[in-house]
Amino acid sequence: MTTLPEVETHSAAATMEFGAHLAGSLLPGTVIALSGELGAGKTCLVKGIARGLGITQEVTSPTFTLIHEYTGGRLPLVHVDLYRLETINQAIAIGIEDHLSGNGVTIIEWAEKIASLLPASTQHIELQFINDTTRRIRLP
Ligand SMILES: Nc1ncnc2c1ncn2[C@@H]1O[C@H](COP(=O)(O)OP(=O)(O)O)[C@@H](O)[C@H]1O
Ligand SMILES: [Mg+2]
Repeated sequence: MTTLPEVETHSAAATMEFGAHLAGSLLPGTVIALSGELGAGKTCLVKGIARGLGITQEVTSPTFTLIHEYTGGRLPLVHVDLYRLETINQAIAIGIEDHLSGNGVTIIEWAEKIASLLPASTQHIELQFINDTTRRIRLP
């Protein structure tokens, strides 16, 4: 499967669709680091990836709990949101390292906050708010 290195989506549904397409090529042990400002569409993309993995549970933002885990799909999905993280030690305390070496797919919003912990194989995806309905998604 080929995925263009840069796309613009014009609806939340289109961003989810891109994520669902991406999900098809994910392998066990994949870590994905999402960067992009609040409202850039990071959680929206994760919802699409979850759908593409065949997860039927609703994906909600783990803003307060930092980590949500979903099973029942082709691979287990761990969704991490570090928006409220204050220190790297806090991430270690909640067991982030186990998730960075797990057998499923781990997707991290605000991953730049734990840059030094990310495995070298981490796939980076950048989301950018262009306007009310447009987001740019880049796979550098
Ligand atoms: N093209 C688009 N892609 C993604 N989200 C969009 C798009 N256009 C509008 N939106 C809206 O932007 C919001 C994105 O929020 P969210 O995914 O929670 O962002 P983040 O997790 O980066 O803070 C959603 O309410 C969604 O409906
Ligand atoms: Mg989010």
